[in-house]
Amino acid sequence: MEIRTVGVVGAGTMGRGIAHVAARSGFKVRLYDLTPEILNNSMANLKALLEKSISKGRLTKEAADDILERIEPSSDFNTLSESDFVIEAAVENIDVKKDIFDRLSKMVKAETVLVTNTSSISITEIAKASTKPEKVAGMHFFNPAEVMKLVEVIRGYYTEDQTVKTVFEVAKKMGKEPIEVKRDTPGFVVNRLLIPFLSEAMQLAEEGVASIEDIDKAIKLGLNHPMGPFELADFSGLDVVLSVMEYFYGEFGKSKYAPPLSLKRLVAAGRYGRKNKKGFYEY
Ligand code: NAI
Repeated sequence: MEIRTVGVVGAGTMGRGIAHVAARSGFKVRLYDLTPEILNNSMANLKALLEKSISKGRLTKEAADDILERIEPSSDFNTLSESDFVIEAAVENIDVKKDIFDRLSKMVKAETVLVTNTSSISITEIAKASTKPEKVAGMHFFNPAEVMKLVEVIRGYYTEDQTVKTVFEVAKKMGKEPIEVKRDTPGFVVNRLLIPFLSEAMQLAEEGVASIEDIDKAIKLGLNHPMGPFELADFSGLDVVLSVMEYFYGEFGKSKYAPPLSLKRLVAAGRYGRKNKKGFYEY
């Protein structure tokens, strides 16, 4: 089946970015979220981003209009039924995702592949809530979805080869570089490596081994990373980092995944991103 129409569930940070990339790559997009207000906000955000690209000479007005024309926002779930491929990027909540996959699987065509952009929930569990788990896989984009090249394609327990092949094709058509994650495990590849790295950086700061600024500098200049671990944790949101660490700790039960106390303290104090004009909050 040729994939022409891509459904996107959730028009938040990731859904909006994914809808943008899909439309830019020539797909028709059905963008769904709970209310017209959320969708209006999301489309206004996208328009502002496109206008910025036009003003910087990176995009023509015609290309921007084409992108916007290809996206059809709607708060009616039924508009997703014609999709040839659906990417779910709703809130990270297992019950919400299960409900979406249950409903989607009952209304799309038999061949339609359904993917989730979840960062942490088991693909197999989500797939089991659908009527066709063999057509379900993980398709994990990185933020900002418009910019980041990598897509992790995750096999759930039931995912068939043809489904993985289709996800690879869609990712490539979107200009992404997919990798296959052969087993459905917490954190897939990137976050599995990233989380202990962030945790160790926070512990170094807690122990007073080096300052936060110097640890970031060391990683940028010593390993050629574009951002240091503290900048990256800030960018992701400290509350998000903490919840992933807690999830890993629960799943793997190993102390290396235990969240650092300093991070817990900051999140409890409502510091979800530490970097302010004066620099970082103390760990
Ligand atoms: P967000 O909070 O910006 O957007 C979530 C959207 O889901 C909201 O617009 C909300 O109205 C909508 N939503 C809530 N319940 C819904 C339902 N029943 N049906 C449809 N939409 C519903 O969240 P964000 O950051 O875009 O994350 C979305 C997904 O992408 C999550 O699964 C997250 O783990 C994953 N993800 C997030 C990344 C990030 O850096 N923010 C990176 C990669 C994956």
